[in-house]
Amino acid sequence: MDCGARKGLSQRHHFKHNHEIHETHEVKNSCVFACKTTAIMRKDHRPYSLKKAYLKFQNLYANHFLAPHFERFGRGHAFMRPWYVEVFGGPVEIGDYATIIATRDQVVRLSVWSVQEGRGGICIGSYGLICPGVRISSGSRITIGDNCMMAGGVYITDADWHGIYDRAGFGRTLPVSISDNVWIGDRAMIGKGVSIGENSIIGAGSVVMHSVPANVIAAGNPARVIRELDPEQEMRTRRDWFSAHTRLSAELAAWDRAMLKDNTLLKWLRYLFFPKKGD
Ligand SMILES: CC(C)(COP(=O)(O)OP(=O)(O)OC[C@H]1O[C@@H](n2cnc3c(N)ncnc32)[C@H](O)[C@@H]1OP(=O)(O)O)[C@@H](O)C(=O)NCCC(=O)NCCS
Repeated sequence: MDCGARKGLSQRHHFKHNHEIHETHEVKNSCVFACKTTAIMRKDHRPYSLKKAYLKFQNLYANHFLAPHFERFGRGHAFMRPWYVEVFGGPVEIGDYATIIATRDQVVRLSVWSVQEGRGGICIGSYGLICPGVRISSGSRITIGDNCMMAGGVYITDADWHGIYDRAGFGRTLPVSISDNVWIGDRAMIGKGVSIGENSIIGAGSVVMHSVPANVIAAGNPARVIRELDPEQEMRTRRDWFSAHTRLSAELAAWDRAMLKDNTLLKWLRYLFFPKKGD
């Protein structure tokens, strides 16, 4: 997706992309959190039809209640508990095929606050992953490329929100730019004026106050480059994963149907009201 300021900033990375999705199991384990949670961590007692209806309801909810708050709201998104996603101010734009997961105790917040007309804005590219507790707050401009993954509790801001001496004021703001394929680890914080180059990884819990080049891993507080990525390694991005979207959806549906085939409404009600060990 064209996020204006982002274009031209991002370097072309030199990784070979793997456009094939080889293994259904690998795919299932990589990004489909709903399946991952239900299939690997705990049995899903819902009948298939109920699960399908719930997934559909979440997307209908997102399209009805959330989409109007976005300047641009792409297609193909997967929302999990969209009622815990808050969008405040604007413009906020998001490309296609985002996965946005929120929970009751870890709301996702995308907010734009600006005292100046025309300033402030969030633009997120396509194929993004936004995990529970992610907060993106803009008073200047935050641009995030395609295939970017933001783990739980990540905080990205382009402003201080209070001046060092003028505590009643707005403080300094400087645009933030995050290029394509960046992966930001759990609870990392990205501060004003930071650019992160293509493919780079930010370690969990890092505090990033200076720009990070492309194709590196940066971590710590303050974050420093700990390693360069190996250019010989093939990298598979979320775009690659979605390129086989239709086939993938059919496979996931078949897999879901097989996993939940013995579930009935009665068994599910029993599980809800009379849970027992091993459920
Ligand atoms: C950044 C990361 C990918 C690096 O993994 P790795 O390449 O296996 O790194 P290593 O464990 O070999 O660590 C290399 C060095 O960096 C340091 N380091 C790694 N991650 C760090 C972090 N988050 N903060 C501070 N230092 C870190 C290690 O202590 C080690 O230092 P040393 O050489 O002095 O011992 C990983 O540490 C990480 O943070 N993953 C994020 C996981 C996450 O948030 N997942 C959420 C799901 S989306």
